[in-house]
Amino acid sequence: MLQGKKIILGITGSIAAYKAALLLRLLVKEGAEVQVLITASGKEFITPVTLSALSGRPVLGEFFEHSDGTWHSHVDLGLWADAFVIAPATANTMGKMTNGICDNLLVTTYLSARCPVFIAPAMDLDMFQHPSTIRNMQILSDWGCHIIEPGTGILASGLSGKGRMEEPESIVENLKAYFSGQYTPKRLSGKRLMITAGPTYEAIDPVRFIGNHSSGKMGFAIAEALAKEGALVDLIAGPVALKTEHPNIFRHDVVSTSEMYQLCLQIFPKTDGAIMSAAVSDYSPMEVVTSKIKRSDANRSIELKPNPDIAAEMGTIKQAHQILAGFALETDNEELNATKKMQKKNFDFIVLNSLKTAGAGFGTDTNKITIINRQNKKTEYPLKSKRDVANDIINYLVPLLTK
Ligand code: PMT
Repeated sequence: MLQGKKIILGITGSIAAYKAALLLRLLVKEGAEVQVLITASGKEFITPVTLSALSGRPVLGEFFEHSDGTWHSHVDLGLWADAFVIAPATANTMGKMTNGICDNLLVTTYLSARCPVFIAPAMDLDMFQHPSTIRNMQILSDWGCHIIEPGTGILASGLSGKGRMEEPESIVENLKAYFSGQYTPKRLSGKRLMITAGPTYEAIDPVRFIGNHSSGKMGFAIAEALAKEGALVDLIAGPVALKTEHPNIFRHDVVSTSEMYQLCLQIFPKTDGAIMSAAVSDYSPMEVVTSKIKRSDANRSIELKPNPDIAAEMGTIKQAHQILAGFALETDNEELNATKKMQKKNFDFIVLNSLKTAGAGFGTDTNKITIINRQNKKTEYPLKSKRDVANDIINYLVPLLTK
């Protein structure tokens, strides 16, 4: 499938540069003509001699050949290529690409290239999670670059650490899929979304709590669906027995409403939006008794205080570029109550599910939802698996996030 394709392989300064040799060998084996472009720091990690031996071409790194003054035209290179693959791509190089800093041949060629650009980021987790990296990946994705990360490529293993470069085999499969017209770009690459899921527990004493029946299934399904679309997902999960699968999901486990509230306050401002699917405990005991309360025959009451309304607070701090969606779990006057909640909490849309509908709500593997927006447009969906419901919600969300 890559027979005769002209590919520029850009290599930047990451320890993952050793994988570029394997990638190069696979591309050549597939019949591609590969021109390697390497940055000065890339050469610290892998020698150009290895790369030129594998590609059968001199490796380019400088604008001029110091020996004879030959000029390497970034414009010609950019026009020559059918695809430009930057693997590994460091945070530094992506930063230069988004800002047009053309201080090396690789970034200069990127600015001249008219071909599709594939980027396989590689860095440590802290750098990968930094807002500047997330923003740069988002910009590059918005500009049409294909970001290939573990878990988003079509051969994604899903076993990797975040920020680790995608395996060469998967990068090649992505290229083959692209050239055979089967590549479906991830719709939310570079976006960062926050999801709340599950219940919250409010301690009464060391053994008892106030909680609810939420299993977390709905919120976890949304987190997985967002991650599969390429988004980086902060999943703030109450106490549930579920596992997360996708490497793009950063999971934050909490127990109480106040813990969930504090994390949401920290994370939400860094995101493109949030879906509040948690069943948050609206009240907590005024006092948490430090020893187990002994049984007695007398009546006992627990004085409760209201918890913060997390979603309403997010609605207050929401910025113009952010989309905020919430859920409404209702038993009566469903649509009216949901609409009131949407307005009160400043949601862009609300997902209504009713405990009166069989197969919907807490604990089930299915749900039946109606989405209501600020123009009071109602979209009703049939009963479906929570995974399919999550996809419906994401299909609703994507145009709002990318407009
Ligand atoms: O977890 P599952 O078993 O899969 O069940 C899924 C679900 C039924 C929990 C889910 O589909 C759902 O409806 N979640 C919201 C439940 C709820 O608490 O709804 P509410 O109508 O009480 O709250 C309205 C909105 O405000 C929700 O987005 C809620 O997350 C948010 N909220 C509420 C109270 C509070 N103190 N803070 C909040 O953020």
